[in-house]
Amino acid sequence: MRAIALAAKISPQTIRVICLEYDGVMNFFARFATAAILGAAVVAFSQAQTASSVWDGVYTADQAKRGADIYAKSCATCHGDELEGGGQAPPLTGSEFTSTWNNQTVDDIFEIVKGTMPADKPGSLTRAQNADLLAFVFQKNQFPAGKTDLPEDAAALKKIKIEEKK
Ligand code: HEC
Repeated sequence: MRAIALAAKISPQTIRVICLEYDGVMNFFARFATAAILGAAVVAFSQAQTASSVWDGVYTADQAKRGADIYAKSCATCHGDELEGGGQAPPLTGSEFTSTWNNQTVDDIFEIVKGTMPADKPGSLTRAQNADLLAFVFQKNQFPAGKTDLPEDAAALKKIKIEEKK
């Protein structure tokens, strides 16, 4: 009864205002829902774009070839022609190597090589040369080549994981 009495008092003008507000609220929710769906899609897309591992083809065969030349000149004397290691220098292929670096990022090994290698002349190579060297090391560890060069940029290298097994 009170509701009817109340309804009777509501003027057409008030009803119009209530309807407009209702429209506004529904519009707001519709927009919010669209934004949420788009946002989720963008996040999913960027994750697919960024998270990768050494099994995703993160270097090119040409780059590995350039790396092989640098390796022969600057690294082979200590780490061996076949990256088998020797003396104090650990192997850069095989399970000893991949288990050492398992679950680390390519940036981790990049910074070690850049900062401490070649051990007889640390820091003498450019970032581009270090990227080429890692491409060669990855090739020797049977990680597949792809269509784009391994980047030399730290932020990009941090997004690539070294995984012992696929
Ligand atoms: C004068 C000898 C020498 C030369 C030349 C040299 N290294 Fe090394 N490298 C070492 C030694 C010794 C270690 C071990 C150092 C340690 O564990 O602190 C090492 C460690 C490494 C490691 C870490 C390996 C691991 O699994 O822990 C990498 C990667 C590496 N070297 C890459 C290179 C690359 C690439 C070059 C060529 C640019 C190079 N090294 C040149 C002696 C050398």
